Amino acid sequence: MNQLRRIGVLTGGGDCPGLNAVIRAVAKSALFDHGLEVIGIRDGYLGLIENRMQPLTADDVSNILTRGGTILGTSNKANPSRYMTGKNSKGQPIFEDVTERVIHHIRQGSLDALVAIGGDGTMSCTNLVIEHGIPCVGVPKTIDNDLMSTEITFGFSTAVQTACDALDRIHTTAASHHRVMLVETMGRNAGWLTLHAGIASGADVILIPEIPYDVQTICRFCLHRRERGKTATIIAVSEGAKPIGGQAVIGRIVPESFDTIRLGGVSNVLADQIEKITGLETRATILGHVQRGGSPIAFDRVLATQFGHQAVELLCSGQFNRMVVMQGGKILSVPISEVANRQRLIPLDHPLLSTARAVGTCFGTPGESPSPR
Ligand code: F6P
Repeated sequence: MNQLRRIGVLTGGGDCPGLNAVIRAVAKSALFDHGLEVIGIRDGYLGLIENRMQPLTADDVSNILTRGGTILGTSNKANPSRYMTGKNSKGQPIFEDVTERVIHHIRQGSLDALVAIGGDGTMSCTNLVIEHGIPCVGVPKTIDNDLMSTEITFGFSTAVQTACDALDRIHTTAASHHRVMLVETMGRNAGWLTLHAGIASGADVILIPEIPYDVQTICRFCLHRRERGKTATIIAVSEGAKPIGGQAVIGRIVPESFDTIRLGGVSNVLADQIEKITGLETRATILGHVQRGGSPIAFDRVLATQFGHQAVELLCSGQFNRMVVMQGGKILSVPISEVANRQRLIPLDHPLLSTARAVGTCFGTPGESPSPR
């Protein structure tokens, strides 16, 4: 019953370590296991809007397993249902729905199915394509680890390692100078990356979007540590962290993007406040895109390979319009519609939160008693 002859593959949204490992697994499984033709689509959905595709051979995907970035390129500004086609006389962006153009290019390129590797934005775009009758499968990517229905996305663990390495380095200089040091991590409105990197590096304070903070509590905690002779205080803070009753700090607006808001800068705001209130010398480091770059760690290489292989298996067994997931340590799949336009945040009863509290981590919650340790 398998009618597939030619499949397209694209990487959409912000890049992350492991994209090339997925592309390789998709292409090799499709070429070798199923004798399919594989077409690489350039720059995510932008390539489908502009009709930029190229055949992918075994040679093209050889030696890319360990490479960061994506050989296909990506875009986090190409949403077919709201695509910026220009600006009006007042300089405001003009948006058009170009979904029909995307569908036309898929049909013109004789693509029987599409593998979309991306995050929630890419899955939402893919859902539109599915509604036009094109069989698709999704592969969950993001350093934010905020996709619904999967315990983990590839790229996350590498970003955690990168952030952890940075926190470790900050720790040594903070101790030399007896400073409070903040390290701001990415993650949008989800605190997974900060929580994992913070715990892994033994950060004294972890601030995540899911738990709004009270700056006075953080300051009391820093002063209490100083009184007990601690040489430094390390604060891991999510870019989406916000004060109780307040808003996250916006770094920039990208009007043509799927998610127009880019967060960033909360660590600078907090550093000023903490220094003013406590009198302790305080510095902030924003890790930024270093968290998205570089070679995937071994765990992500394996996960990406499993995900890519499973995506092709789904297509070739006629299980269309599903996203590969990991649940209970098993590689499974769920309908893409279940994932589109949703975000997975840290539940407040998550065991990692109580583990962190048990080892004395402060989350900036009023009433939190300063750690006796
Ligand atoms: O979703 C991945 C991510 O790196 C977020 O953690 C971050 O907020 C955002 O993308 C940054 O986007 P950009 O690359 O457009 O600055």
